[in-house]
Amino acid sequence: MIIAIDGPAASGKGTLARRIAETYELRHLDTGLTYRAVAAALLAQGLPLGDEKIAIEIARNLDLAKMDKAVLSAHEVGEAASRVAVLGALREELVRLQKDFAQTPPGAVLDGRDIGTVVCPDASVKLFITASPEARARRRTAEMVSKGQEAEFSSVLDDLKRRDARDSERTVAPMKQAADAHLLDTTEMDIETAFQAAVDIIETARKS
Ligand code: DC
Repeated sequence: MIIAIDGPAASGKGTLARRIAETYELRHLDTGLTYRAVAAALLAQGLPLGDEKIAIEIARNLDLAKMDKAVLSAHEVGEAASRVAVLGALREELVRLQKDFAQTPPGAVLDGRDIGTVVCPDASVKLFITASPEARARRRTAEMVSKGQEAEFSSVLDDLKRRDARDSERTVAPMKQAADAHLLDTTEMDIETAFQAAVDIIETARKS
C-alpha cells in the first residue's frame, strides 16, 4: 500500500503522515527533507541555490537514512529548499530516489507537494491536507516559540504565503491537488480530529 499526502507548509501533513505510517506499519518519507538536504549542502558550501549541476551531484550522493530532521527543519533551510525545488533536473533526480523508496515493500507513506501528481500517481490513497494561511501561521508560530525560537505571527504568515506562491506557481511539478485526491481541510481541527478524519478516508478508500 502506498499513501500519498500533499499539502502546503504547516498544514499538519507531516504529523499526519508519521501517524498514518505507524498505524498501518508502513515506512515513511518526508520528501521535503530531500529538498532541504540539497539546499542545506549548497548553503554550507556557500554555493548559489541555482547551481543545478552541483545540486544534482549532491542529490546523487544523498543517503535518505542520514537526513537529520533537527538540522534540516531550520526556517532558512525551508526557504532555500523552496528555491532549489524549482530546478527541473534536480527534481528528476530526487523523484527517482522517492519512487524507489515508495516501491520497496511493504509500502510507504510519502508526504510532500507532488506525491499524488508526480511521484506516486498510482498511490492506493491520496490525501491533500490544507488549512487557512492564518491557521497554519498560528501553528508554525506556536511550534517555533515552543522550541525557544523567536517568531512573530505576521512575518511567519508572510513567509508562508510567499512559500505557497513559489511552490504552487513554479512550472515544474507545482503543488497541486491530484484529481483523485481526497481534500482534508484541518483549519478547524486539532491534530487528533484530523488524524481520525484521515483514517476514515483511508479506510473508505481501501474498501472501495
Ligand atoms: O515540506 P517542507 O516544508 O519540508 O518542504 C520544503 C520545500 O521543498 C517546499 O517549500 C517545496 C519543496 N518540496 C517540493 O517541491 N516537493 C516536495 N515533494 C516536497 C517539498
